[in-house]
Amino acid sequence: MPLLLRTRVVAFWILSLAVALASWRWAVFGVAASMEVMLYHALARPVAFYAHVGFAPVALALLPLQFWTRLRVRRPGLHRWLGRLYGLSILLSGLGGLVLALTTEAGPAAAWGFGLLAVIWLAVTARAVQLAMARRIAEHRRWMIRSAALTFGAVTLRLELPVLVVLFGFDTGYQVVSWLAWVPNLLVAEWLLWRPRPAVAA
Ligand code: HEM
Repeated sequence: MPLLLRTRVVAFWILSLAVALASWRWAVFGVAASMEVMLYHALARPVAFYAHVGFAPVALALLPLQFWTRLRVRRPGLHRWLGRLYGLSILLSGLGGLVLALTTEAGPAAAWGFGLLAVIWLAVTARAVQLAMARRIAEHRRWMIRSAALTFGAVTLRLELPVLVVLFGFDTGYQVVSWLAWVPNLLVAEWLLWRPRPAVAA
């Protein structure tokens, strides 16, 4: 594997697993101590909140495993079971995320940014799962790339937010990141899916 590609793959594994693990910090330290700004969600709407912060990290942690070609080829049964877990995690955390978005105190721009993300995340992932069940594997793969780009938004959000906070302050930076965390990811996914590929010699 070329060095640049290998570096990207390693970064994808480390970032996905690190953000997923860090996102479960509430389970060890409690919400008040580890994510105080989210305490109002946890108290007012615990089902949506815990569905989101419990299951969204599962989806993120599963991403590198599901794109690992060797595992897919050697253990297709495991790939299918992990795929079901990925879909279920997004169903629960996506619905939870939608409720959090609709009730966020971060302002209307963040409500729309996260809300739209939740709806698109649910729809794109449902389409990917439906295609897998219909054994339309090439199309399933394309829709999973879109779903993964959105799930990976949890990573891009955490990379971008500190920069945006320095540039614009927390309140504006947070509103900006609610869009910037996922729209560019989706555009990159579309570019990967539609870029012209060199024809393979027969
Ligand atoms: C892709 C669709 C997603 C949507 C629509 C979404 C939506 C939200 C919303 C609305 C909040 C509350 C923000 C606020 O009110 O200020 C939130 C918080 C949170 N989300 Fe997500 N989220 C998504 C993906 C993920 C993923 C994949 C993870 C996995 C790590 C994740 C982990 C968290 C955590 C841990 C919090 C609590 C705050 C924090 O620690 O940053 N979310 N999410």
